[in-house]
Amino acid sequence: MKPKIMQATAVAHPNIALVKYWGKRDVERNIPAVGSLSITLDGLTTTTTVRFDPEFEHDVFLLGGCEAPKMAQRVVGCLDRMRRRAGVSMHAVVESENDFPTAAGLASSASGFAALVIAADAALGAGFDRSELADLARQASGSAARSLFGGFVELRLTPDGPYPTETRQLLEPRAWPLRILVAVTDPGPKAVGSTEGMLMTELTSPYYREWVESSPADLLEARSAVERRDFEALADVSELSCLKMHAVMLSARPGLVYWNGTTVECIRRVRELRADGVAVFFTVDAGPQVKAVCLPEVYERVERDLAVLPGVTSVVESGLGGGARVVEDRR
Ligand code: PMV
Repeated sequence: MKPKIMQATAVAHPNIALVKYWGKRDVERNIPAVGSLSITLDGLTTTTTVRFDPEFEHDVFLLGGCEAPKMAQRVVGCLDRMRRRAGVSMHAVVESENDFPTAAGLASSASGFAALVIAADAALGAGFDRSELADLARQASGSAARSLFGGFVELRLTPDGPYPTETRQLLEPRAWPLRILVAVTDPGPKAVGSTEGMLMTELTSPYYREWVESSPADLLEARSAVERRDFEALADVSELSCLKMHAVMLSARPGLVYWNGTTVECIRRVRELRADGVAVFFTVDAGPQVKAVCLPEVYERVERDLAVLPGVTSVVESGLGGGARVVEDRR
């Protein structure tokens, strides 16, 4: 009899948080200190193939065809948790490709781990439900659970629930088809990874507690803005959450400065456009890229304005995308 091939391929898109997550309630279990609200992109894609085989002696992880030892540790950790829950012990080869720069504040770990849990679940035939997959993704990367879903997504803390967080879709992509322009100002990897940065912030920033305590109100405001499709309200609370997160990062010791001069120029330009009545707002994650979120009718104008700024190396355009999904399942 031909041996069973336990292989599957999944795709996932990065997501961008509009209400940010920064800080951990529980480092061991990777539980975020605050809830978050994000949009899933369609213009950037991670494709991951997982193949389990009883003959493999250990796990192998390749990113863009190359070994990536730091990420490999986290991949193995995620596979171990999945194997434990599925009651199997086989090793796997995981091959992942991003069609966008890795580790530059474009949430490649989010799409990477979302694609990994979906592909590994299909390859194992484990049949985990979305909540369990979201829990597995969240343990690997706090923002990855959000990439399991498309459109507008909320991750809530649920200390009394079956899982410590719950992730759900608030709106489908086509219900409010915003556009996103990512102004790339430095395609290189970021200096301080998010986990390290979060711990440093929690331990040393005098404003960390205020950041955590003020976050639920932002989440509520953003959820209501999304439900009402109120662009101005979403713009206000998103810029507030972004600047508050960077303020708490800057107040760590030593201060975490993820921006460069061009990041600031992009923010200024987006603010000028918004003051002129153009429906656009900015957000920035743990890296120097600026994401401009806008209504579809103004995106060409915003793109033109960002592309000409000195220091902007490219502008990547995206709409809202769907959640992580299996594209090939060979079992
Ligand atoms: O999921 P992580 O550990 O890469 O952290 C993500 C942190 C931010 O991107 C800065 C904010 C967020 O909510 O995505």
